[in-house]
Amino acid sequence: MSLRVAVVGSGPAGIYTAEALVKQSADPVDVDVLERLPTPYGLVRYGVAPDHTSIKSIANYLRKVLELPRVRFLGGVTLGSEVSVEDLLACYDAVVYCTGAMVDRKMGIPGEDLLGSVAATDFVNWYCGHPDVSPEAFELDSPEVAVIGVGNVAVDVVRVLAKTAEDLRATDVPDDVLARLADSQVKAIHMIGRRGPEHAKFTLKELRELGEVANADVCVRPDEAVVLGGDFPRQIKGNIDVLRSWSERSPVGRPRRLDVRFWLRPVEILGTTRVEGLRLERTRLSEDGRVVGTGEFETLPVGMVLRSVGYQSVPLPGVPFSTETMTVPNLAGRVRDREYVAGWLKRGPTGVIGTNKSDAAETVRTLLADAPSGAVASIDELLAARGVRPVTYEDWQAIEAAEADLARTLGRGERVKLVGLEAMLAACGRIAT
Ligand SMILES: Cc1cc2nc3c(=O)[nH]c(=O)nc-3n(C[C@H](O)[C@H](O)[C@H](O)COP(=O)(O)OP(=O)(O)OC[C@H]3O[C@@H](n4cnc5c(N)ncnc54)[C@H](O)[C@@H]3O)c2cc1C
Ligand SMILES: NC(=O)c1ccc[n+]([C@@H]2O[C@H](COP(=O)([O-])OP(=O)(O)OC[C@H]3O[C@@H](n4cnc5c(N)ncnc54)[C@H](OP(=O)(O)O)[C@@H]3O)[C@@H](O)[C@H]2O)c1
Repeated sequence: MSLRVAVVGSGPAGIYTAEALVKQSADPVDVDVLERLPTPYGLVRYGVAPDHTSIKSIANYLRKVLELPRVRFLGGVTLGSEVSVEDLLACYDAVVYCTGAMVDRKMGIPGEDLLGSVAATDFVNWYCGHPDVSPEAFELDSPEVAVIGVGNVAVDVVRVLAKTAEDLRATDVPDDVLARLADSQVKAIHMIGRRGPEHAKFTLKELRELGEVANADVCVRPDEAVVLGGDFPRQIKGNIDVLRSWSERSPVGRPRRLDVRFWLRPVEILGTTRVEGLRLERTRLSEDGRVVGTGEFETLPVGMVLRSVGYQSVPLPGVPFSTETMTVPNLAGRVRDREYVAGWLKRGPTGVIGTNKSDAAETVRTLLADAPSGAVASIDELLAARGVRPVTYEDWQAIEAAEADLARTLGRGERVKLVGLEAMLAACGRIAT
C-alpha cells in the first residue's frame, strides 16, 4: 500500500526527510514538500554565509531529492495561512513538521529595542537576500559595531562585516546589499563572549577563517586568552591555541580591526533613540558554573549592537509546542497520531546541516513503523478551491535561471539573488512585471 506524506518546510531537515521516505525499501511513499517561500533549501539558501560556497553547494545534493519522481515541491504554501493542520491530515496519511527556527533570542537587557540594536537573524536574512528583509534595512554607518555571542553565526556576521564588498562580489549577495557593504563605515568590530575561549561555541575551521580576512587585523587581549587547566577536546584546544597565537600578534594597520573579547557580558545598550554605546560587565564562573558579574564595567562606543545569541523556533498553529524547550515535544520524532517532527523544530537550533540527516532518518523510522493512514482528500483540489497555485519545482528552476542571468549581466559570479517575492514570482512568470 502506498503512503502520502506532507513534509512542511524545505530546509535540510525537510528534504532529508523526503529522501529517507522515498528511498526506503518498504511500501512506496509519495511526498509533497510544502514551503512558505517560493524557494527551497531553508537556511542553506538564507543562512549559510554567501562566501561559504562549498557548503552552499549542498543545495546540489538537496535538488536531486526534489527531482525524484515521487517528490513534489509546493512553494508559497504556509502552514497556518494557506493550509491548516486539519487540511493536511485530511489530504495526507502523515505530516512531518520541519519548519526550523526562524526567530532570534533576546538578551533581556535595557536598550535592546533602540535603533541600531539588531538581531543576527535579521542581519543574516539581509545579506542573504531573504524576502522578509528589505535591502534597505541596514546602513553600516557606525564606525564601531559590537557582535554579541561567540558561536558560528557570530563568526559569519563578523566575517561579512570585516571583509570588503569586493571580497563578496563573486557571491550571490543581492546587488543592493553589496552596494551598502561597499559604503560601510565600519572600522572596528568587537565580538563579545560572556565566558572564556574554552567555552566558545565556534568551530576551529570557522575561527581560523577570521584570521585569513585580509582586510582586518584580528586582536585578542593576552589576559583574556589565558585558559587555566588543560585537558580539552581537540576542537577546543585548537580554538584556544589559535586565540593565544592571535594574542601574541600586533595589528599591522589593516582598514578594519576585529577585537575578539572574552569574560564580558552585556548589561545595557546605551542611547536615547539609537544605540550610542554598550555597557559590559566583566564576568567569572561561580562555583556552580554560572556566569556571574564581577562588578567591573567597561563601555564600548558602538553605534550598532548585533545580538547573535541563538535562534529559536516559533509555534505552528495547531501543533503542540513547549515554551520551555522552544521545540515540538516528540518521541523519536512522533508528535501525535500521524504527526511527526524533524530538524531544528525537533531538537533546537544546534548542529550542522548533516546532523539533520540522521535526525530525519530517526523520524522516518518512527513514521514507517507506525504505518499511519487517513488521507481522504486531495491537496491539489483543496488548494485550487482556495485559489492557491503553488510555486512548482519548474517555477523554482526559472527563478534560479533568472538569478544566473542577473549574475552574468552584472559580471558577478554564478548567481545573484533576486530580492523580494515579486521579483521571484515575476521571474517564473507567475505575475506580470
Ligand atoms: C546563519 C546560519 C548559518 C549557518 N551556516 C551553516 C553552515 O555553514 N554549515 C552548516 O553545516 N550548518 C550551518 N547552519 C546550520 C543549518 O543551517 C541548520 O542545521 C539547518 O538549516 C536546519 O535545518 P531545518 O530544515 O531544521 O531548518 P531550516 O533550514 O530553517 O528550514 C526550515 C524551512 O521551513 C520553512 N517554513 C517555516 N515556517 C513554515 C510554515 N509555517 N509553512 C511552510 N514552510 C515553513 C522555512 O521557510 C524554511 O525553508 C547555519 C545556521 C544559521 C542560522
Ligand atoms: N559554518 C558552520 O558550520 C555554521 C555556521 C553558522 C551556524 N552553524 C550552526 O548553527 C547553530 C546555531 O549557531 P549560533 O551561533 O546561532 O548559536 P550557538 O552556537 O548556540 O552560539 C550562541 C552564542 O551566544 C552566546 N549567548 C547566548 N545567550 C547569551 C546572552 N544572553 N548574552 C551573551 N551571550 C549569549 C552563547 O554563549 P554561552 O555559550 O555562554 O551560552 C554562544 O556564544 C550551531 O550549531 C552552529 O554550529 C554552523
